[in-house]
Amino acid sequence: MARRPIICGNWKMNKSPDEAVAFVRELAPKVQRFENVERVVAPTFLALTGVAEALKGTELKAAAQDGHWATDGAYTSEVSAAMLRPFVSYVIIGHSECRAYLNETDDTVNRKAKAILAGGLRPIIAVGESLAQNEAGETIDFVRSQVSAALEGISASDMANVVIAYEPIWAIGTGRSASGEMADAIIKSALRDTVRALYDDDIADGIRIQYGGSVKPGNMEEFMSQPNIDGALVGGASLQVEDFAGLIEIAARVKGQ
Ligand code: 13P
Repeated sequence: MARRPIICGNWKMNKSPDEAVAFVRELAPKVQRFENVERVVAPTFLALTGVAEALKGTELKAAAQDGHWATDGAYTSEVSAAMLRPFVSYVIIGHSECRAYLNETDDTVNRKAKAILAGGLRPIIAVGESLAQNEAGETIDFVRSQVSAALEGISASDMANVVIAYEPIWAIGTGRSASGEMADAIIKSALRDTVRALYDDDIADGIRIQYGGSVKPGNMEEFMSQPNIDGALVGGASLQVEDFAGLIEIAARVKGQ
């Protein structure tokens, strides 16, 4: 089953609203022709209104870097799916930085995923093991448990709108990426086959699964050549227009049907 690759630039706490808008204005025409790849940027919440305006008439989409599970209420600092809906198509949840610094747990990821889907948006659910877990040989069991917990109670029909990102924590921002083959093997057994066990072959073969962690122009082809990797969630290399456009071009060439 052909899966349309999705490349998402996660800008984390980088770029002011003005810088974000200038970036997408420069990026959009450079990547307009790569329509076999879904192209997404995730700026700070503050930039989402300006970026959404700048993206009108382009093929680029926006993502939020988080979204709350409640529809409204006394949750100081939080942003709901309904608030995001006019501006974004995707919401990243479960990022290891949020798990490490913002009290994100498997339970909050699951609640957020349901709220995002109910709000008409698509979650990008990030999972991944620590270096210690990796070295202890716990990767497969741990990532399986993260995936199962994140998807608990999500209906088969909603799964068409779910993207999962495998981001080993030891590869994020370290320059040390997994090899393409290693990432592919983990994505197959800990992610795609977990979805297969929870749902069915059609859903497992249709769900898009990204790799993330020190993806850059020099290793993008290796990742995109893998059968189970359907794109990338990119931090550092998404902050420069030329680098990010280059990643999209490589995905379009390698994954092009
Ligand atoms: P880097 O590409 O900077 O390693 O970050 C990956 C990431 O965390 C994307 O969400």
